[in-house]
Amino acid sequence: MNLRIRSPLHEDQSLTLPAEMAELSVSFNGSVCSEMGDEYAIKNNIADLLTRDNRYTIAQSTNHWKITAAVYEDIWRVRSLSLLSGELFPIEKEKQLLRKWMEPVPGNLYLDVGCSTALYGRTIKKNEPGCHVVALDFSLAMLQEARLKAEASEVSLFLVRADAREMPFYANTFDGLMMGGTLNELSDEMKVLYECRRVLKKDGVFFMMHLIESETWYGRVLQNSAQWSGIQFWTLSESNALFERAGFRIADQFTKGIVCFTKLVVS
Ligand SMILES: C[S@@+](CC[C@H](N)C(=O)[O-])C[C@H]1O[C@@H](n2cnc3c(N)ncnc32)[C@H](O)[C@@H]1O
Repeated sequence: MNLRIRSPLHEDQSLTLPAEMAELSVSFNGSVCSEMGDEYAIKNNIADLLTRDNRYTIAQSTNHWKITAAVYEDIWRVRSLSLLSGELFPIEKEKQLLRKWMEPVPGNLYLDVGCSTALYGRTIKKNEPGCHVVALDFSLAMLQEARLKAEASEVSLFLVRADAREMPFYANTFDGLMMGGTLNELSDEMKVLYECRRVLKKDGVFFMMHLIESETWYGRVLQNSAQWSGIQFWTLSESNALFERAGFRIADQFTKGIVCFTKLVVS
């Protein structure tokens, strides 16, 4: 499937990402161009639609380092929920929940927002090879690592470098969105949530995993010290208020320690 997206510079102009770009067993290089002449490179299957230099928080900056991208999933991510929730929470359990709430359908289109190495995007595509998945991040290093991992697991993905605050997609494009841990790292969370609402279809599902404020004093000390790097934590009711303000309704939710899983639908 070719993917029709919106030019990041001209809202009334479209770009078409070719289906071959998502086939990661073959390196795809080229560019896409709108009728206005704005052109975007596709290098080794990654479409670069980032149009401006950003000021990054410290936490965001570290995601642009090759070393972070290389160790992120295998060293940290597979253990992170057990460490953060304080109880055994194997990655397989998280993937199961993702598959259960997302229920991917052949032909449908899904977006992994702030994908890092595209753990969620790969899981959905592996579960339902007939669906289409876009993985978006503004870190090239993370997308390059996502590409390696997806190719190794023989999964096809559209890899898009863009800012989640201004997504290069038309309204009502996606049947489902996934966001794993990214909310806490955003510097403009409402803008991203509004963008998520805009690109999600009215009957779509949004799988959210984020971290909430700790209830223990020592947990709060740790979280307060992480805030200097730009990571934010909300109480459960504060983050639920953010989701509702962005136009979502909570269809399901549970917490394990500071880890919170939420199934959002359009309100
Ligand atoms: C905690 S990691 C995400 C992990 C991943 N979703 C997972 O489940 O393993 C946050 C990611 O969001 C990306 N990110 C943060 N702010 C972003 C933005 N405004 N636009 C695009 N990506 C962003 C970072 O580059 C980083 O890769």
